[in-house]
Amino acid sequence: MTRDPSADSRISAEDIRRRKGGVPIVCLTAYTYPIARLLDPHVDLLLVGDSVAMVLHGHATTLGASLEMMIAHGQAVMRGSAKACVVVDMPAGSYEASPAQAVAAAKRIVEETGCQAVKLEGGVDMASQIAAIVAEGIPVMGHIGLQPQSVEKDGGYKIKGRTQDNIAALLRDAEVVEAAGAFSVVIEGTMEAVAAKLTHHVSIPTIGIGASADCDGQILVIDDMVGMTVDRVPKFVKEYANLRGAIADAAARYAAEVRSRAFPGPGHVFTTASGKDKT
Ligand code: KIV
Repeated sequence: MTRDPSADSRISAEDIRRRKGGVPIVCLTAYTYPIARLLDPHVDLLLVGDSVAMVLHGHATTLGASLEMMIAHGQAVMRGSAKACVVVDMPAGSYEASPAQAVAAAKRIVEETGCQAVKLEGGVDMASQIAAIVAEGIPVMGHIGLQPQSVEKDGGYKIKGRTQDNIAALLRDAEVVEAAGAFSVVIEGTMEAVAAKLTHHVSIPTIGIGASADCDGQILVIDDMVGMTVDRVPKFVKEYANLRGAIADAAARYAAEVRSRAFPGPGHVFTTASGKDKT
């Protein structure tokens, strides 16, 4: 069943902004229609993260995401959700060059998906991009701390906030992202006490991932959270289910039944012309 987005009464970016200091904001990534259908009743915000490049497309980093990929997954998540605030990530290469480039990409994402907001990575260095997109009436979620789009430049996934200089830079990033007009900011891979300090430092909600329970909300990658991740699972992930095991078990049982001709059995074949067969 495809939902009619025009009939939706969705949580808006402004609703999320107003939740600073309140009941924690529940966020998960989603990339597909069925997962959006399953998550929508339970979450406040669905992020179509550029992690889709790694999680669903098998790229080594998020740099494998393209604008077209983000738009296609954004459309699927919008079709599968009715309540959540849907935020679509701006992929690397679509916004860093100039505010004009950022505005053009953000407009394409919003016009072609109908999502509520876009997200981009960067602090002080991306202030003019955030301000330019917000000036066009498109809500922006910031993303500071560990920035996966910069892992090649940074030489790996490095936890932030370990030195006084780095803490000062993070505080400045958070201030600037807020001043540029972002409605919220993801804080990723940052020392717990620093993430808490950042949360108290700004008046927009902070959404933590590998950060702190003091953040105004939390986000995890859906495949990590349900135990579908087949490669390395980061330390900050809590697996609430083991779908890896469930899928491997189902595949093994199916394979055994196909090989022994136990499947398809009488209940899964058409045997009469009476019209009474199950379809
Ligand atoms: O792409 C993504 O999934 C993200 C989250 C990890 C915040 O940016």
